[in-house]
Amino acid sequence: MSENHASPSAPATAGEQSGAPAAEATTASPAAASSAAASSAAAQQARGRREPMFPDGPAPDPAGSHHERRIRSFQPRRSRVTTGQGEALRRLWPKWGLDIDGLSKLDLGELFGDPELPVVLEIGFGMGEATAKMAAADLGTGILACDVHTPGQGNLLGLAERNGLDNVRVANGDAIILLREMLVPDSLAGLRVYFPDPWPKKRHHKRRLIQPEFLALAATRMAPGALLHCATDWEPYAEQMLEVLSAAPDFENTQSDGGFAPRPDFRPLTRFEGQGLDKGHVVHDLLFRRKAH
Ligand SMILES: C[S@@+](CC[C@H](N)C(=O)[O-])C[C@H]1O[C@@H](n2cnc3c(N)ncnc32)[C@H](O)[C@@H]1O
Repeated sequence: MSENHASPSAPATAGEQSGAPAAEATTASPAAASSAAASSAAAQQARGRREPMFPDGPAPDPAGSHHERRIRSFQPRRSRVTTGQGEALRRLWPKWGLDIDGLSKLDLGELFGDPELPVVLEIGFGMGEATAKMAAADLGTGILACDVHTPGQGNLLGLAERNGLDNVRVANGDAIILLREMLVPDSLAGLRVYFPDPWPKKRHHKRRLIQPEFLALAATRMAPGALLHCATDWEPYAEQMLEVLSAAPDFENTQSDGGFAPRPDFRPLTRFEGQGLDKGHVVHDLLFRRKAH
């Protein structure tokens, strides 16, 4: 992996940032020493918040404030990383992981080590089981799998290694920034969005990923003919997806009746889908094609 894809190094310590000379601490009075201890504890606490869980792994907020978006389609959450996931992150992140920092354009040919490889972006892979199965079934396609969920990133990296999948790369951060700042026009051979967060409450609908603005952006990064495949088990969201996709000028429905697609054989059951089916939800697939320019 090139330096462009490596995680930024850990932030400077508080002492380094303030520029305070180290010698001062050894000559300080007791009062100054106790206030120094308090501020050192505060600095340590602040450092604890900023420092990444895995120094050479995914950064906590890779794009930081310079690309901050107020409305995000995901909820930042703290989740426990298992020993196996942590081990996979430590070992495999430098090789197959990249932070979405929004600072440079991605050369997908370089990222996958093959300039001819068609690359499909999957947004929100969760724990990555379905991603790994699809990658194994199609080694001639590169899968750029994007999520913010650290345990899932470790899980997918482990699955990729155990199954010898050299065609998977794991991107950490907001897919919007990846699309907008880092991917070049026409670079994607496909886009997959499986069971995006449904945001069922009306006041949260603006957080849903599949919106006209998202489709306009995604279309610019997709090559003509590239497939956009969405699936959801949330009926009202399925209806919204069909409505906005059918109205999107850059996409055409692969279904001649203009409706949902039958579930394609190539999409394995995802973890989130299984949970939806257990609750009696009905799953809808949508298969749209990027129109020619
Ligand atoms: C409901 S889960 C579905 C996961 C998986 N596709 C499945 O079916 O089991 C949605 C996932 O999308 C991720 N996500 C939502 N918005 C995202 C964004 N803008 N960029 C990257 N990941 C996002 C969330 O972190 C979450 O892991």
